[in-house]
Amino acid sequence: MEHITILAIESSCDETSASIVRDGVVLNNVVATQKVHEEYGGVVPELASRAHQQNIIPVVEQAFRETGIAKEELTAIGFTRGPGLLGALLVGTAYAKSMALALDIPLIEVNHMEAHILAHFIDEPRPPFPFLCLTVSGGHTQIVLVKDHLTMEVVGKTQDDAVGEAFDKSAKLLGLPYPGGPMIDKYAQLGDPHKFEFPVSEMEGYNYSFSGIKTAILYFLQREKRKDEQFIEKNLNDICASIQFTFIKMLMQKLKRASRELKVPHIAIAGGVSANKGLRQALEEEAKKSRWTVYFPDFEYCTDNAGMIAIAAHYKYEAGEFCEQSVSPDPRMSI
Ligand code: KG4
Ligand code: ZN
Repeated sequence: MEHITILAIESSCDETSASIVRDGVVLNNVVATQKVHEEYGGVVPELASRAHQQNIIPVVEQAFRETGIAKEELTAIGFTRGPGLLGALLVGTAYAKSMALALDIPLIEVNHMEAHILAHFIDEPRPPFPFLCLTVSGGHTQIVLVKDHLTMEVVGKTQDDAVGEAFDKSAKLLGLPYPGGPMIDKYAQLGDPHKFEFPVSEMEGYNYSFSGIKTAILYFLQREKRKDEQFIEKNLNDICASIQFTFIKMLMQKLKRASRELKVPHIAIAGGVSANKGLRQALEEEAKKSRWTVYFPDFEYCTDNAGMIAIAAHYKYEAGEFCEQSVSPDPRMSI
C-alpha cells in the first residue's frame, strides 16, 4: 500500500514549525520559538515575519533529517491558512505552495483553531464524538462542539479579549516578561487564590468577556500601589493565584453550563492556555463531580506547533479536501 506522507508547516504567530505525518502517525514536530519578541512585551508582527523567513528552511530541513524521509516521498503539503498574523502566515503559505508546485503534489489548507482541537488525535487517549473543546489561546477563547474530525461548531466565544491575552496583559502589569501566562501559572502554585477578589462579568449564553476583569485588575493594582509601592513584590504569588483563580472560574462556569445543557460529558481543552496547571486541576475536580471524561493534550501540542497541523492535514487528505495554488492566507479564518 502507498503511504500517505504529509509535510505540515505552521507560521501563524511567533513559532516556525514543521512536522511530518505518515499514515496518521505524527513522526516529529520541529519548533523554532522566536525570542526576538521578549524585549517588546508582545509579538511584533514585522519581526515575526522576518524570523519565519529565516527559520523556515532550517526547520523544514530538520524535519526531513529527523525522520529520514525524502522530499520525493511526500504525497501532500499542509499549511496553516489562518487565523493569525498576515505577514507571518504569508511566509508559511508561500513556502508550502512553492514546494507543492515543485513536487507536483496537492496542497491542504488548515484552520489553526481546528488544528489545536485535532491535536487530541495525535496520541491516545482520543476523545469520542461528540465532545466539547474549550479552546483557549492568545487570540481565542471558544467552546466548540466537535461532531467529528472535520465538523465543528462554535457554541460560545469571547466577545472581546481572549483569556491568553488577559493572562499576558495581567502579567505585563505585574512586570513579568512576555509571554506572561506561564509565569502567572508558576507563581499561582505558591499563592492563596482567595486573597484578592475580582468582579466577574456575566455574559449571555456560553459567551465570555475578559476586558472588564482586565481593567479591574489594572485599577486594583494602581490603588494598592498608591498605598504601598512594594505591593506587587510583596504579594506576587497571591496576586497571581487570585487572578488565575478568577479566569478559571469564568472559563469553567460556561463550560459546565454548555456540558449540562448540550448533554455532552466528554470535555477536552486545547490551545496555549490548556497548558495551565490550575485549569487542568479545575477540570479534573469537575470531572469527579459531574462525571465528565476529560482530555488534555500533551504539553508539546498545547502551544503552536506543526504536529497539530499535520494531523489535521491527514484527515483532510483522507476526505479529499485539497486547495488551489491560488489560495492566500486568511488572518481572520474562523471555524
Ligand atoms: O495557542 P498559542 O501558543 O498561540 C496562539 O495561537 O495564541 O497560545 C499562546 C497563549 C499565550 O497567551 C500564553 O501566555 C498562553 O497561551 N499560555 C499560558 C500557559 N502557557 C501558555 N497561559 C496560562 N498558563 C500557562 N501555563
Ligand atoms: Zn495557537
